Amino acid sequence: MALIKKFRIKKFKNQKTILKLEKISMIYNKRQILNSLDLIINEQEILGMLGPNGVGKSTIFHIITGLKDPSFGKVYIDGTDCTKIPIYERATKYKIGYVPQHGGFIQDLSLIENLNLVGEIHIKDKDLRKKKIEKIISQFEFDPILKIKGKYLSGGQKKKLVISMALINDPSILLLDEPFAALDILTIKMLQEIIVNLQSLEKITVVVCDHQARDLLSCVDRAIVLSNGKIIASGSPDEIVKDSSARSAYFGDEFKIN
Ligand SMILES: Nc1ncnc2c1ncn2[C@@H]1O[C@H](COP(=O)(O)OP(=O)(O)O)[C@@H](O)[C@H]1O
Ligand SMILES: [Mg+2]
Repeated sequence: MALIKKFRIKKFKNQKTILKLEKISMIYNKRQILNSLDLIINEQEILGMLGPNGVGKSTIFHIITGLKDPSFGKVYIDGTDCTKIPIYERATKYKIGYVPQHGGFIQDLSLIENLNLVGEIHIKDKDLRKKKIEKIISQFEFDPILKIKGKYLSGGQKKKLVISMALINDPSILLLDEPFAALDILTIKMLQEIIVNLQSLEKITVVVCDHQARDLLSCVDRAIVLSNGKIIASGSPDEIVKDSSARSAYFGDEFKIN
């Protein structure tokens, strides 16, 4: 496993909370999915959220973005209670960027048309918009594929497009829902590099979730494991794979980090 992140953790000496979930519960049709969950995310860290399918990872992202209201509990962004703040304002004023697991772009528009569309929504000034989109095109090496329709892009290109669309708004927190799913090893490595660069070059806090551990643990500073509506373990990749609760509820006995 590429331990891209191993040497970076010591950077987080003066931790500042950027996102806080306080006693979040989510109940769907009398089924409790999240149970009084508390989570603190520090500015500029890359946090990995692990847990089996159906444990509530996407639900947590929906609650952070405002796509869903929690049944109970509060969401604080940069110290402000945002629980009642609508999704659009959370994206614009509180700078939450979100990359859903599926979709997130318009299939019948070309890559550049998708970028322009989001650019026109978020950046009113024409010159600034042009500059931002040019920066993204060079950063993501989109030049050769600008005119290709969304639906004809490869899995990795689609993922890069949706990530780049989320960056147009200069998010301070970027949420990535299972970005590595159904991608080949080299594409996963490329995305891991993009994630690490977003943190180190753009100073973005990244929260990334996956139901599989390996790809995620190689690019995060800290990981949490979810089980039965709660966080049952939290720590650096090395710490979390040794955690006995995380091993019995999620990793299993055979799991090794390398
Ligand atoms: N709108 C909904 N109505 C009822 N149940 C839902 C709804 N959305 C999600 N669920 C249920 O909530 C649980 C958590 O879903 P989800 O957050 O998508 O899990 P994960 O992303 O970890 O796979 C699942 O059991 C799912 O079936
Ligand atoms: Mg999910």
